[in-house]
Amino acid sequence: MEEKCSIEVLSLHKRYGDTKALRGLTFSVEPGEIYGLLGPNGAGKTTTLKILVGLVRPDRGTARICGRSVTSQRVEALSFVGYIPENPICFQNLTIREFLEFIGSLRELSREDVEEAMSYYLEIFELKEKRNEYVSNLSRGMIQKVLASAAFMVRPKVLIMDEPMAGMDPEAQHVFKEEVRRMVSRGTAVLISSHLLDMVEKFCTRIGIINRGVLIAEGGLDDLRRRAGEEASLEDVFLKLVEES
Ligand SMILES: Nc1ncnc2c1ncn2[C@@H]1O[C@H](COP(=O)(O)OP(=O)(O)OP(=O)(O)O)[C@@H](O)[C@H]1O
Ligand SMILES: [Mg+2]
Repeated sequence: MEEKCSIEVLSLHKRYGDTKALRGLTFSVEPGEIYGLLGPNGAGKTTTLKILVGLVRPDRGTARICGRSVTSQRVEALSFVGYIPENPICFQNLTIREFLEFIGSLRELSREDVEEAMSYYLEIFELKEKRNEYVSNLSRGMIQKVLASAAFMVRPKVLIMDEPMAGMDPEAQHVFKEEVRRMVSRGTAVLISSHLLDMVEKFCTRIGIINRGVLIAEGGLDDLRRRAGEEASLEDVFLKLVEES
């Protein structure tokens, strides 16, 4: 049987100088879940996601992917992950095709698999004509689509995405969500940080709200709504809980 993977974050602490970015953050994401991580600017979302992909080392606490520690078993843990970073800095001097080939070779995909995946994703994201264009010449939304293609292409058991739809047009957002849902139906665990509350409300199966480096609320949309009134939107819930905390 194929291994199913979860994401576990246990009591993470991270300081940058005097700034306490994370102060004991704990949550987990199970296979088949789309977990929306919400929080005000500076709450610690990006720091958390960077710890999960080994780009930042926590001061204390542990993070695991498929049961592997992202610090002591980093390479193995990362082999399960597709990641979309917050800032789309991706090899500006490569063409889209070269960039995706590079990701494919890093992840030891066969040439045929890379070709097949590239052709599929460039088609659905309407980037076929741009495949020999340099990444530096692409629009913000196009770069997000290339990053999504790279993250999806590696057939991840875990998807970690930092505001992945920023800059995507409505059609691209639709295609993106359909693809994520397809992976989720096969058991992928998805962690997505976002400020797009309307999207999170409809797309995520569970939501965690963090503020100043700790989790202040967690649950399904209905659980969270109960805390701000039956008719409350996710925006009402978010504003109320952040204010109270
Ligand atoms: N490299 C760094 N050096 C110093 N401080 C940092 C660094 N990275 C993040 N911080 C600080 O840590 C805190 C958490 O930042 P982080 O980027 O994780 O927040 P975020 O929730 O992703 O915010 P946003 O919604 O704006 O993306 C902030 O106070 C930020 O200024
Ligand atoms: Mg961020």
